[in-house]
Amino acid sequence: MQFTFSAAFFALVLAAAAVPTKRAACSNGRTAAHASCCVWFDVLDDIQENMYAPLGDLTFHDAIGFSPALFFEGKFGHIRLYLLPRGTDGDDSDGSIMAHSDVETLFPVQLTCAHIDDIVDAQRPFAIAHKVSFGDFIQFAGAVGVSNCAGAPRLEFLAGRLNFSIASPPGLVPDPFDPVDKIIARFADAGFAPNEIVDLLVSHTIAAQDHVDPTIPVRTPFDSTPSVFDAQFFVGTLLVGQTFPGNGSNQGEVVSPLAGEFRLQSDFAIARDPRMACEWQSFIGGNTQYWNTNHLICFCCCPSANHGTMTTKFRAAMSKMSTELKNLSEALLLREMYFTA
Ligand SMILES: *[C@@H]1O[C@H](CO)[C@@H](O)[C@H](O)[C@H]1NC(C)=O
Ligand SMILES: *[C@@H]1O[C@H](CO)[C@@H](O)[C@H](O)[C@H]1NC(C)=O
Ligand SMILES: *[C@@H]1O[C@H](CO)[C@@H](O)[C@H](O)[C@H]1NC(C)=O
Repeated sequence: MQFTFSAAFFALVLAAAAVPTKRAACSNGRTAAHASCCVWFDVLDDIQENMYAPLGDLTFHDAIGFSPALFFEGKFGHIRLYLLPRGTDGDDSDGSIMAHSDVETLFPVQLTCAHIDDIVDAQRPFAIAHKVSFGDFIQFAGAVGVSNCAGAPRLEFLAGRLNFSIASPPGLVPDPFDPVDKIIARFADAGFAPNEIVDLLVSHTIAAQDHVDPTIPVRTPFDSTPSVFDAQFFVGTLLVGQTFPGNGSNQGEVVSPLAGEFRLQSDFAIARDPRMACEWQSFIGGNTQYWNTNHLICFCCCPSANHGTMTTKFRAAMSKMSTELKNLSEALLLREMYFTA
């Protein structure tokens, strides 16, 4: 009894401390800590009701379009953007895919992997109508899209990206037919370790192909449960491939285990790469030994995990991707190098 009382009292104190004394009143009786957050309730209502384009497909394609390596070579980047603190930066999740869709959506990877151009066109009017920056809108829509799936984590969303960007150069979004070494190198440039590539690929549990194979229905899924945020994608990718869902092999496609399911060559290869197989299998949980002995060469002893680990790692990797890596100390370092170069 005493314990119950203390716990309840403690919770009350915490709640009182956490809630600011004066919250901003938003639409439909909702409140937010800051008035500038209210707009996101309206965006939420609007996109949940009125937007039929996929919500999450632009997050990665926008965010990965930056390259410290190219910046140091003096080939791409804008010093002003590198000077901004984390969360308000540019050159990455900066909305450039929407602001410069005339350039970026014409890259072959955007045309073959998904109809990124159509999705940009569908999303843009919503961002303009609500007067939010393109970069913020894309990451917000992505967070909403993920949360719409059963079992998905709520992703962190931080607003405040500038509505200014420069078009990203071609070649920064990995292709599904890229060799694994090339994919790892591209992500390393963007600040992601091999394990974090796998963490980002958790998104494929609720993803689908659009244009890799033009002969099959759009949004042919990567796993048998595309609306559920589960580990089925990680299991399915380890199964022996049997068939193509369409009329044959396309660039970036390999045989999938089930009819109606699409398997990307990059997913197939990453699942079996010794640098990433462990992280891959760790999301499956249960009897990983079964998967090791029956479906692929055992590269390592993988600890079994569960849904919680998968969602936590995905959430962390998405936060990192959407807010990017450039913090102030990195920015200062870059400024030094820029001005002394
Ligand atoms: C962001 O920039 C685009 C042009 O790239 C413009 O159409 C849009 O209205 C701007 N949004 C805001 C909130 O300033
Ligand atoms: C598969 O579909 C593509 C696109 O429609 C077509 O060009 C190709 O001839 C087809 N291949 C076969 C073997 O049917
Ligand atoms: C800032 O960047 C430096 C250099 O990459 C890194 O060591 C440090 O952990 C970062 N700090 C934060 C708060 O992200």
